[in-house]
Amino acid sequence: MTTGQLREIDGIPVYGNFIGGEWVAATSGATFENRNPARPSELIGHFAASDRGDVAAAVTAATDAFPGWASTSAIARANILYTAAERLNARLGEVARDLTREEGKTLREAIGETSRAVAILRYYAGEIQQPDGEHYPSANPHTFLFTIREPLGPVGIITPWNFPIAIPIWKAIPAIAFGNTVVLKPASFTLLTTVHIAEVLQEAGLPAGVFSLVTGSASQVGDPLVRDERIVGISFTGSDAVGNGIKRIASERGAKVQLELGGKNPAIVLADADLDHALTQVINGSMLSAGQKCTATSRAIVDRRISDEVTARLGERIAALTVGDPLADATQIGPVISDEAVTRLAGAVDRARAEGVTLVTGGTRPEIEGGHYLAPTLFADVANESFLGQDELFGPVLGVIPVDGLDEAIAVANQVRYGLSASIFTRDLGTAMTFIRGIQAGIVHVNSETAGAEPQVPFGGYKGSSSYSREQGKAAREFYTQLKTVYLDPPPTGA
Ligand code: UN1
Repeated sequence: MTTGQLREIDGIPVYGNFIGGEWVAATSGATFENRNPARPSELIGHFAASDRGDVAAAVTAATDAFPGWASTSAIARANILYTAAERLNARLGEVARDLTREEGKTLREAIGETSRAVAILRYYAGEIQQPDGEHYPSANPHTFLFTIREPLGPVGIITPWNFPIAIPIWKAIPAIAFGNTVVLKPASFTLLTTVHIAEVLQEAGLPAGVFSLVTGSASQVGDPLVRDERIVGISFTGSDAVGNGIKRIASERGAKVQLELGGKNPAIVLADADLDHALTQVINGSMLSAGQKCTATSRAIVDRRISDEVTARLGERIAALTVGDPLADATQIGPVISDEAVTRLAGAVDRARAEGVTLVTGGTRPEIEGGHYLAPTLFADVANESFLGQDELFGPVLGVIPVDGLDEAIAVANQVRYGLSASIFTRDLGTAMTFIRGIQAGIVHVNSETAGAEPQVPFGGYKGSSSYSREQGKAAREFYTQLKTVYLDPPPTGA
């Protein structure tokens, strides 16, 4: 039994909230259950169905813990994060398995994501020991003029289900590292993974109230967290509609807001590309995690001279992908997150076909143990202005958009309201440079897939993808701290 487990119902664990250093049931006692998307007959656990009272208790704990944590030395904070990294690493296999059971990505990907979370913990343990201010010359020769960075205060973090360990870690850990206190509200589909996060931080000796976990619905938990006047910063990853609503509410009351929203990411394949490599990268970018990444490739923008060949070869390879139980070694594509998601995706396939778009492969719903599967799907000759070219579908669906040459490719890539990530496949350096300059995207890849993120560099998008915010790397320091400018004059001598 893990510490996050309060009791069992018919052999299935009941997990609590983690508030003020204690594992507690929701005040109302209410719970809800989660099931494995690959096998919905399998119950994962029962989780606290919290309400605004539980949120208020967590915010009180974060508020009370803030002065002590903010004045804890950066070196002491770093040591706790190093310990947490080692504790997470020690249970990596178990966490990855639980992640796959509740989210549905393959075990290989879940291991990769959990390893990334360990790396992020280590990165911020190091980053917090870097210089945190600057010294400036002053007009007054006696003045010692410098800046220092200080934490914001208690922050609220709202995370999605598609990277259930990497995203909570990449938001909460820099917040904690820089001296803030955190209340995390994770997406309800993937809570077992976040129980592991709270347990690891507890084991590492993080003081009570510095990190709290409150589970439950957007209306009962997310909304009161965003509206609580004591929460001075909000970081959110999820849909544009929810993110823009959060931004309105939180910035109206003066809180700092960091958003990571959708993507409709292009991969441009030019005639001079190494085609075999390009196809592998486009398939990985579009189909891994069943396409459920905001960085997933959903538009293959292909030079018309090679678009028939690219479409045929993509179709063959996508049709050959192994779909099934994500815990099985041979599986390449697991289920999508829910019945609602697969029904929505199947509806999009039907709509595209009704609009006359050519379906090359996929579009069906494989029947595997009642799981929420959509066969990896490829459409040919997609019009960029159609819904297939414009809407983030968040599933294993790729469209090929033929274009005439580089300038049209870049123009088409930019004709979308998002701008998160983008790739180009070419051997020509001049072409790559034109793309790097011309593409409206926050993350640009030359000869690699659109997905992926290293913790030491900023992550975020242009246009509707991030509302100008960035996370990770130096951007995390920028978001989770505020500057204090200090004019330090010695007392007058001889007084
Ligand atoms: C990745 O591409 O590995 O929610 C990370 C998302 C992004 C993270 C992508 N914020 O999909």
